Amino acid sequence: MKSITIAIDGYSSCGKSTLAKALAKELGFTYIDSGAMYRAVSLYIKRSKIPIDELSSKEVKEILADVQIEFKWNRETMLSETFLNGENVENEIRGKEVSDSVSKIAQNKNIRTILVERQREMSKGRGVVMDGRDIGTKVFPKAEVKIFMTAEPAIRAERRYSELKAKGDTITLEEVIENIRLRDYNDSTRKENPLRKAEDAIEIDNSFIGQEEQLGMVLKIVHEKI
Ligand code: CDP
Repeated sequence: MKSITIAIDGYSSCGKSTLAKALAKELGFTYIDSGAMYRAVSLYIKRSKIPIDELSSKEVKEILADVQIEFKWNRETMLSETFLNGENVENEIRGKEVSDSVSKIAQNKNIRTILVERQREMSKGRGVVMDGRDIGTKVFPKAEVKIFMTAEPAIRAERRYSELKAKGDTITLEEVIENIRLRDYNDSTRKENPLRKAEDAIEIDNSFIGQEEQLGMVLKIVHEKI
């Protein structure tokens, strides 16, 4: 299998990571969750109470030099988990506090520059599936396959709510709806690399498409490309 780059972008909670993981598994590629990187940086900034927007690009660079983000495979859960400076923060970065602050942090130009560099570095010389908001437009404008995913807002909120409930989170459906609404707004209206469909991306609305069917559709696109 030729190593290519597959970029998956789209609004919050429309199943990007589910598709990206399944594709990576099927193709033997590496899956990189760019959103987890923004979430981990948000957690670090929140914990250390850094007034990030008041800092110069040099200062942000120095701070982020101390933020190591890794993905490790958990053999028991069969899931990839996010580590921040050696600590497993997978659960914490998915919780309400980080979800409420991440899209503000992700507007910071200096943070974006550094994380985009890291995302490119992590992908060098391998087949990669990366999901996020700016993967097809900014991180890999030459990605061989670009997918732009959408789904109806009410369906996205239900999916995220069920996912969080299953993990024991006490969040309410109304809080999930509000979080998704706010992040969609922030992500698509920000100045730096806003969320938008790349001209050459293929749009898939998966409101009424099952996971298997969706995977089949995208695998077909991938095989046509390579
Ligand atoms: O999984 P979900 O769609 O809810 O979000 P995520 O992929 O975990 O991303 C969390 C947040 O990080 C997004 O709402 C964006 O604000 C930011 N993000 C970004 O700005 N650029 C990316 N490439 C990925 C995420």
